[in-house]
Amino acid sequence: MRGYFGRKTAIVAALLASTGIARAEDVEVLHWWTSGGEASALNVLKDDLATKQIGWIDMPVAGGGGEAAMTTLRARVTAGDAPTAVQMLGFDIQDWAAEGQLANLDAVAAEEGWDAVVPVALQAFSKYDGSWVAAPVNVHSTNWVWANKAMMDELGIAQPTNWDEFVAAMQKVKDSGKTALAHGGQPWQEATMFDGVVLSVGGVEFYRKAFIDLDPEALGSDQMVEAFNRMATLRSFVDENFSGRDWNLASAMVINGDAAFQIMGDWAKGEFLKAGKVPGTDFLCFRVPGTQGDVSFNSDQFAMFAQTDPAAQAAQGEMARAIMSPGFQSAFNVVKGSVPARTDVPNDAFDACGKQAMAELAEASANGTLVGSIAHGHANKAAVKNAIYDVVTANFNGEYDAATAAQNLVNAVEAAQ
Ligand code: BGC
Repeated sequence: MRGYFGRKTAIVAALLASTGIARAEDVEVLHWWTSGGEASALNVLKDDLATKQIGWIDMPVAGGGGEAAMTTLRARVTAGDAPTAVQMLGFDIQDWAAEGQLANLDAVAAEEGWDAVVPVALQAFSKYDGSWVAAPVNVHSTNWVWANKAMMDELGIAQPTNWDEFVAAMQKVKDSGKTALAHGGQPWQEATMFDGVVLSVGGVEFYRKAFIDLDPEALGSDQMVEAFNRMATLRSFVDENFSGRDWNLASAMVINGDAAFQIMGDWAKGEFLKAGKVPGTDFLCFRVPGTQGDVSFNSDQFAMFAQTDPAAQAAQGEMARAIMSPGFQSAFNVVKGSVPARTDVPNDAFDACGKQAMAELAEASANGTLVGSIAHGHANKAAVKNAIYDVVTANFNGEYDAATAAQNLVNAVEAAQ
C-alpha cells in the first residue's frame, strides 16, 4: 500500500513539476484513521496541507488505540525507515522521545505561542524534558454513550442518568427482541468501555488510585470486582456476532437501528455525521450514566521523527504549524467528533454534542475530574496498558469471574511495570 501511494505521490509530484507549480516536501503520515468518519477528518488535514504545498504519503494501519500502528512503527524505525509524522497517544510519545527519536518542535511552538493555548494536561504528553515533541490535533473522550433516538422513543426509554437506569434501559431493549449494546469484541474496545465503567463505580478518585497510581489495594478492591461485574452485565447485552467486529461497524448498528446503544469515544460521532445523522434528532450523546462531570480523555498528537534533510524538517515544521492553527482545529474536530486541543477556539461551528464536550472538558479540567484514558494510552505506558487489556478482555469473554479478574489485574499490572 505504501508503495502504491508512494508511486502515486511521485506521479503527482512529477505532474506538478511539469506544470511548474512549486511544492515543498512530502510528509509520510502513519495513522489509524481508516473508518469513514476518520477518513473524512483526515481529508481536512490532507487538503489543508495541500494548500501549503505539502504532499501526503499515506501509511494507514487500522486499529483503535493504535496498537497495530505502534507495532508497524517499531518495525519501520528498527529498519531505519521512520515515517516523517506519526499519529500518537500519550505515553507512547514520551517513550519515543526518551529514545531520542523525535524532532524538537520548540521553534514553531514559540513562534505560534503554543504554551499559552494548549492545556497543561495535554502539554504533559506533548513535551519531553521541557521541549515540544508533538503537536496535539484534538481531545477525544471515552466515557460516552451513543444512542439511537427513534429506538429509545419507540420503546419509551428516557435518557438514563445512573448505572441502574442504564441497565434497565438495556433490559427493555433486549426484552423487545433487539440488540441493546452494539459492541466490537476487540481488546481495545472492551478497554474503552472499561474506562467509563471504572468511573461509574468509583469516580475519579478510585480511577486515579487504581489506574494512575497503580495502587495494588485499589486494583484488587471490592470496587474493582464491581467494575468487572458491570462489564459482565454489559456482555449480557451484546449480540452473538460481536467477536472481532470493528468499532465503526458497531456504530453502524446504532446508526441503522440494529442496536440501541454503543459505549465508545467520540470518534463514533464522526460515523453518525458521515451517515448524515443529526445529534438530538437521530441520535443522542450522553456520558456513561453515573460518570457525569468526569471526563476520561485522550489526545491524538502528531510526533515528527527526526530527519536530517532540511527540506523534510521544514515540511514537518509546516505540518505542525498547520495542525495547531485555530481555524484548522475547528474545521478538523467538527468532522472528527473530537474537540480542539487549544483552549481559544470558538465553539460556533460545533454541533450540540461537540459544544457539550468542549464545556465538559473545560469544567472537568477546572474541577480536577479530568483523567487520562486507560484504554487510549493516557494513564500508563504501553506494557501496563496491554496487561490491563488482557485481563479486561478475558473477563469480558467469560474466561474468569469478577473476583478472579480483580486478582489477576493486580498480578498483571505488577508484572508489567
Ligand atoms: C484515536 C481516535 C480514533 C480511534 C478509533 C483512538 O485511539 O485517538 O482518533 O478515531 O482510536 O480508531
